[in-house]
Amino acid sequence: GVDISRLLGRTGNVTYDPGFANTASTKSAITFIDGDAGILRFRGYPIEQLAKQSTFLETAYLVIYGELPSAQQLSEWEDRIRRKTMLDERMREFFRMFPRRSHPMPVLASGLMMLSTFSFDSLNDTPEGIEKATERLLAKVPTLAAYGYKNSRGEAMLYPDNSLSYIENFLRMSFGYPTEPYEFNDEITRALDVLLILHADHEQNCSSSTVRLIGSSGANIYASIAGGVNALSGPLHGGANQAVLEMLEAIRASGISVKDYVQQVKDKKAGIKLMGFGHRIYKNYDPRAAIIKQHADAVLRLKEGRRDLLNLATELEQTALEDPYFQERKLYPNVDFYSGLIYEAMGFPKEMFTVLFAIGRLPGWIAQWREMRADPGRKIGRPRQVYVGEPERAYVPIEDRT
Ligand code: ACO
Repeated sequence: GVDISRLLGRTGNVTYDPGFANTASTKSAITFIDGDAGILRFRGYPIEQLAKQSTFLETAYLVIYGELPSAQQLSEWEDRIRRKTMLDERMREFFRMFPRRSHPMPVLASGLMMLSTFSFDSLNDTPEGIEKATERLLAKVPTLAAYGYKNSRGEAMLYPDNSLSYIENFLRMSFGYPTEPYEFNDEITRALDVLLILHADHEQNCSSSTVRLIGSSGANIYASIAGGVNALSGPLHGGANQAVLEMLEAIRASGISVKDYVQQVKDKKAGIKLMGFGHRIYKNYDPRAAIIKQHADAVLRLKEGRRDLLNLATELEQTALEDPYFQERKLYPNVDFYSGLIYEAMGFPKEMFTVLFAIGRLPGWIAQWREMRADPGRKIGRPRQVYVGEPERAYVPIEDRT
């Protein structure tokens, strides 16, 4: 019963669109999604082909620059990034300030802001500054993430080993020890590479929109991407992969049957959702979830003890897919449904899952920020509102208030 025209006063017409469900905030040439058909393409290339044939750094190049690199461009790009993985020695000290129990997402967001204070020559809007920031971010975010993890375990932080590939370097910095050689497992290295490819961009999701909105004010790329990390941390966005594993563990610990759990979700009384299910855009199987599922089997073979959780997830998926509640609402597994299980089998604790998502999404955030800044018609992001508060009233002196 609100008279909207009175509330709007002289502000003119606005569209009221909660959650921006129908409002395009930008034009973009980076990612195409057809949510009904379950299609995802980066710069026109289907995600299935990239997951099969590309590497994360090559996909990052594609997402950011719009074309697949030539062999020479790729090797120069990998080389430039490899040479920037080190952090200033004082930045390493910074990690020791955090309590060991701190969640690695705020540590990563703080690390990005700290990185900006060490990045004088890449804070400006010149093409050289933006290139430097792009390479520096891609190179240093895995180092920041691994240091946050090492700190949480009270273990020594390893220097990057730049003879290794991007993925190997990150795995060694996360799980290696200074005095022991780190043994790689090809299955794990490739699965992580694929998982990061799948996360590389997803058009105007909550964190990428946040990056664009912050950057639209003229704020630098580090500040904008730190904002993206914070947006990603929520359980309805990147935090869902952690929530899925917690849900699976809780189901197993309580001994409740899958059927009863799904019934509880449908009743809505307990206020629980089936985590890792449903998506604002996908009203069909999330194509990323289908690819991840193939790798889940391979990686979980290495960790037999956790196979029961994969079986539980498969049963949960099957039960939900056959249920009219989920069918009518077009709720299918999303990217997070199986990714946590794989990360766990690789040895990462639950708290690191969203950090891994952030490493994967970084090329997307960078590409979205650059596209936004390159747009000559760019405007500061400034949504409108529908005011529903009090009309004008006179100030009441404190002694007259009841
Ligand atoms: N479990 C049970 N019911 C659900 C779920 C779910 N996971 N998701 C949606 N629904 C129901 C809603 O309750 C609603 O039912 P109603 O029509 O009876 O009220 C209906 O489906 C429509 O859902 P909305 O919340 O309106 O859909 P929206 O597009 O706003 O939300 C979201 C999408 C946030 C992803 C939601 O599906 C959800 O919360 N899923 C669980 C969390 C999750 O997995 N998030 C990861 C998303 S992917 C990513 O960020 C990478």
